[in-house]
Amino acid sequence: MNGANREIRNKVILITGGTSGVGKAIASGLAKLGARIVILSRNRERGEEALRDIAEATGNDTGEYLAADLSLQSSIRQAGEAFKRKYDRLDALVNAGGAVYFEKELTPEGIERTFAVNYLSHFTLTNELLDLLKESRPSRVITVAGAPRFLKNASFDFEDVQQVNRFSGLRATAQALFARVIFTSELARRLEGTGVAALAFHPGLIQSNLIRTAPWYMKAYGKLSNRSAKKDCGIGVYLAAAKEVESVTGAFFDDKKQMIPIPQLQNEDVGKRLWRVSEELTGISKV
Ligand SMILES: NC(=O)c1ccc[n+]([C@@H]2O[C@H](COP(=O)([O-])OP(=O)(O)OC[C@H]3O[C@@H](n4cnc5c(N)ncnc54)[C@H](OP(=O)(O)O)[C@@H]3O)[C@@H](O)[C@H]2O)c1
Repeated sequence: MNGANREIRNKVILITGGTSGVGKAIASGLAKLGARIVILSRNRERGEEALRDIAEATGNDTGEYLAADLSLQSSIRQAGEAFKRKYDRLDALVNAGGAVYFEKELTPEGIERTFAVNYLSHFTLTNELLDLLKESRPSRVITVAGAPRFLKNASFDFEDVQQVNRFSGLRATAQALFARVIFTSELARRLEGTGVAALAFHPGLIQSNLIRTAPWYMKAYGKLSNRSAKKDCGIGVYLAAAKEVESVTGAFFDDKKQMIPIPQLQNEDVGKRLWRVSEELTGISKV
């Protein structure tokens, strides 16, 4: 798969986590193709620094910053509203922000942080922006997830959706990333015929700050793997920009641009159940 890009010059693409790692790599790749990127993160200074880096690397200085704390539903809703006031179109939403936490902590809104930041935030943001995505069709929601080898054998733990019982940071992260994939396939089913596609992908190993809060032994391992990790994210750029995936929806891709079947995603009950739980936790119901 190596075809032409759809016309994305001046198209508006919102990227969560655009200040670092996967999100920044995708933002930079899309800016290079001429897209008007908007990067969402919680720290304006880091956001502006990332925009300067991207402009310097790509020659595209049209990028803008949107502030939101992904751990807080209230903040995401405000950011969604602010986005809709400022932009009259959204050609792609890239859900790439995320974090790993090694200690259990609930957000002030009472949701386990890993689940809130990595998954529930993106459920809410996507729903907040759905009308704009539909008006801007053909458009796409592209969501970063974990490695296919883990997803293929994973099962979603509905008895402990937020993984608060016997908390482990890595298990909670895996469940939140799995939720993103289930969310993608359910979103695709719900958006059939609207011109909005939903795709999930594994970015491969990308240089990142993800383990800055990890215990020292993990940081040491992380430093080593960061050295061999990539700075760009070809698959993320491809899914946002390539013409040949225009008619594809509800699919999961690996970093080699291969579509990987995840058997659990065919189970519509799982998708519906996660959607119901997410609606209950966020109070949102748009599709
Ligand atoms: N790197 C990889 O190889 C890899 C592979 C597979 C999956 N992933 C997944 O990709 C996601 C991003 O990882 P990464 O490697 O890009 O990490 P990263 O380098 O640490 O970047 C995380 C991004 O998310 C933003 N973010 C974190 N917490 C936030 C919050 N509460 N509110 C708003 N923004 C927040 C950060 O923005 P701030 O400027 O606000 O900190 C930053 O832009 C994670 O879910 C990770 O599990 C990564």
